[in-house]
Amino acid sequence: MALRNILKEGDPTLEKASRNVEKFDERLHILLDDMRETLADAEGVGLAAPQVGVLRRVALVLDLAQETEEQDAPVVELINPVILETEGEITAYEGCLSIPGVLGKVSRPMRVRVQARDRTGVFFEMEGEGMTARALCHEIDHLDGQLYTRLCDQLYDKDNLPEESE
Ligand code: NI
Repeated sequence: MALRNILKEGDPTLEKASRNVEKFDERLHILLDDMRETLADAEGVGLAAPQVGVLRRVALVLDLAQETEEQDAPVVELINPVILETEGEITAYEGCLSIPGVLGKVSRPMRVRVQARDRTGVFFEMEGEGMTARALCHEIDHLDGQLYTRLCDQLYDKDNLPEESE
């Protein structure tokens, strides 16, 4: 495994749409292993292949609902993910490893159901709620060349967020 460089906002690769994966081969597995290591190193909740310069529909998302005191949240590998269903809406701070140091307030579905394929090509479905739903939508947006900043009108310094007024 190897750490890959995370592209930053302004890199044109981040604005391009990714293509579906068709071969579930060793090359894909190396990409997934490298992305896992890169995500863990960056302590993020998700990472999409275009962020490491690969325009393929591959994303990782932490399944935070599975996190326990004994076990870290497992990383889910999503190949060619598609949102099947969404429910509700919640507005919260959101950030991106490609846009370090800032957060924006973004409205996302409260729950999503996603279909994807695993690294061997087998179809599966995943449901996410709250932060996991947000991460799923955010990473799938990356596969369409979209950054969250298009969904908010203001960015905040991550270490100096305004006080919330009720
Ligand atoms: Ni991102």
